[in-house]
Amino acid sequence: MRFTLIQCTTLVSVISTAVAQVSFTAYANDFVDPDYILAKNFGANTQAAQASIMAWAGSTAVGGPWSVMDKNVTPPSGNKHDYMSWAPYWWPDCSKVGNTTELTPEQIWVTCPYVSRDGQFNPDGRLVNDVGAFQSMSEAVFYNTLAWVFATGDSKTSYENIVVKFLKAWFLDDATKMNPNLAYGQMQRGPTGQVGSHTGVLDLKAMAKVTSAILILRKGGSTQWTSDLDNQLIAWTKEYITWLETAEIAIEEALATNNHGTFYYNQLAALKVLVNDNAGAKNATNTYFNTLYMNQITASGEQPLEAVRTRPYHYHSYNLAAMITNARIEKYADPSSTVWNKTTAEGATIKTALDFALGLSASATGESKYVEELYPNVAAVAAVYGDAGGKYDAFLKQGEPGFMGEPYILWNQPFALDEASGRVTSTPSSSSPATKSSGKSTSTGKAVSNSTQGSGASSIRASVWVCISALTLGAGFLVF
Ligand SMILES: *[C@@H]1O[C@H](CO)[C@@H](O)[C@H](O)[C@H]1NC(C)=O
Ligand SMILES: *[C@@H]1O[C@H](CO)[C@@H](O)[C@H](O)[C@H]1NC(C)=O
Ligand SMILES: *[C@@H]1O[C@H](CO)[C@@H](O)[C@H](O)[C@H]1NC(C)=O
Ligand SMILES: *[C@@H]1O[C@H](CO)[C@@H](O)[C@H](O)[C@H]1NC(C)=O
Repeated sequence: MRFTLIQCTTLVSVISTAVAQVSFTAYANDFVDPDYILAKNFGANTQAAQASIMAWAGSTAVGGPWSVMDKNVTPPSGNKHDYMSWAPYWWPDCSKVGNTTELTPEQIWVTCPYVSRDGQFNPDGRLVNDVGAFQSMSEAVFYNTLAWVFATGDSKTSYENIVVKFLKAWFLDDATKMNPNLAYGQMQRGPTGQVGSHTGVLDLKAMAKVTSAILILRKGGSTQWTSDLDNQLIAWTKEYITWLETAEIAIEEALATNNHGTFYYNQLAALKVLVNDNAGAKNATNTYFNTLYMNQITASGEQPLEAVRTRPYHYHSYNLAAMITNARIEKYADPSSTVWNKTTAEGATIKTALDFALGLSASATGESKYVEELYPNVAAVAAVYGDAGGKYDAFLKQGEPGFMGEPYILWNQPFALDEASGRVTSTPSSSSPATKSSGKSTSTGKAVSNSTQGSGASSIRASVWVCISALTLGAGFLVF
């Protein structure tokens, strides 16, 4: 097949713009091995994922930096530096408080008893949004750190500056930093609810993502994330770990038998890694896998403690993400770990749980909007346990044809055999779409195109290689 220069240029530019970015979705949790990212040994099949990461770096940074000082309500301590959130499923019952006039919201928050309605979000809960702010910060820090790894030149420094600015605002700057405790996390409100609940510990589960970013900056030799800043964050984290290991509500969360306990260990183990205590991280995940995990998956793969919730599809996915994150942290802290083969009391593994979840119907429980939550878990299981027969690949193709543009594809390699065939051993070239991206937000739309998917993708890719090789070999071979 011969190409003219025009055809070649057109083909290369079509390929560049056709890389299928996807719009931003927060994954429940994850931990990414910094050594894998920094080795930059990414397959060509991850180009769409890289393009999405560059776009997500831009879109997640919008609105930052974030801080606990942003909230308009002061915690019961009187100190806005204290993290605060309101329990999402708790509602006021003002019927018996004997009020003769309409109560103001502020009066309701402290006067009326609050009662739980599992699965029903109280919409006023987000008037205090430290939880959303932390979530936004963690996503921005994570994706901008990955963008820093991919980028070159001036844009590289700009990603690094964003990450450092956001981390300082949340954790370190005197005027805006969070105190290292969750004493007012998920307050139930009302006369007896002016204290945090153990469930509030869940609010900081994304410390696993933040830790991935810190390790990448640290091991990647970031000049902006100085050793002074790193030491300050380590000191902050050590104080917070002490709170996580000693506060009554934190210990209660560690003992929660369902996803809350699983996520507690995501956080604790990640933080131990952050403070360079890999043995402590391993000990934390060991505790999880030898206790809570043992009763979380039945022989069939069902997660009985999540099945009883009002949104069983969501909770099966959610706890899977947390189990996977614990396993990833353990493998990082101790590469010799056999955690992925660890069986529960009934002989199930994480893979058994995923296989069961594949058979759940989200629509049957009115949860169609949660269907995408399972996809990152499918990719993780496929990458770890293999995908003989292509079951996981087929599931993702069916559910989200553009899934190769999902960032999780980058760190769940090798994936299915057909996609993995694009694996190369060099770093992405400067002409790769990812490294050319401005990092500006393009994520409001859905997938740009499906055209890099399937067999069509490999033939276009092949043509481009022919084209580029031909240009490199010299014009003598070409008809212009
Ligand atoms: C008490 O306050 C609640 C909430 O504002 C209101 O719905 C209710 O009607 C009030 N009750 C009385 C008796 O005024
Ligand atoms: C290991 O974990 C257990 C249970 O969480 C804890 O009691 C113990 O102190 C930990 N040991 C080390 C060395 O971190
Ligand atoms: C599980 O154990 C078997 C046998 O030791 C091993 O071959 C396999 O790689 C392990 N699987 C995972 C996912 O670690
Ligand atoms: C992507 O592929 C699906 C299924 O093949 C198709 O329905 C959809 O229109 C395609 N989207 C784009 C943007 O091409």
